[in-house]
Amino acid sequence: MKVLVLNGPNLGRLGTREPEIYGSTTHADLARLCVETGADLGLDVEVRQTDHEGEMLGWLHEAAENKIPVVLNAAAWTHYSIAVRDAAAQLTAPLIEVHISNVHKREDFRHHSYLSALAAGVIVGLGVDGYALALRWLADNAKP
Ligand code: DQA
Repeated sequence: MKVLVLNGPNLGRLGTREPEIYGSTTHADLARLCVETGADLGLDVEVRQTDHEGEMLGWLHEAAENKIPVVLNAAAWTHYSIAVRDAAAQLTAPLIEVHISNVHKREDFRHHSYLSALAAGVIVGLGVDGYALALRWLADNAKP
């Protein structure tokens, strides 16, 4: 089963970006972790990252069109983008929302997510392991 792991703005700078919050894993490391974890679970995982909202909308439309499960870290868009929310609402396969940091321990503006109500589940604060946990859940629960 194909799974898309979609990462939003600034996540391409993982490893150098605020390492005390996001850790030292780079986006390339994260992509490798997701692809390898997925392969062990029998999933065909593709990882993408963009700083451009329109590109993210296109990827979500592609996932909706092809009924592909999505692991989504929409980063800052989580907290304010109704366009990303409306694109995610079109998904029919499960959506898992992931955040590397525990957004609930941080600034108030990070406590609200436009995506959580659409998600099968939300994983926050477990670092990049959250992606592997999301993939495991999809392997067990999403129907091809
Ligand atoms: C994040 C949390 C967001 O609040 C922030 O804007 C990010 C990353 C996380 O993975 O912890 O860019 O989604």
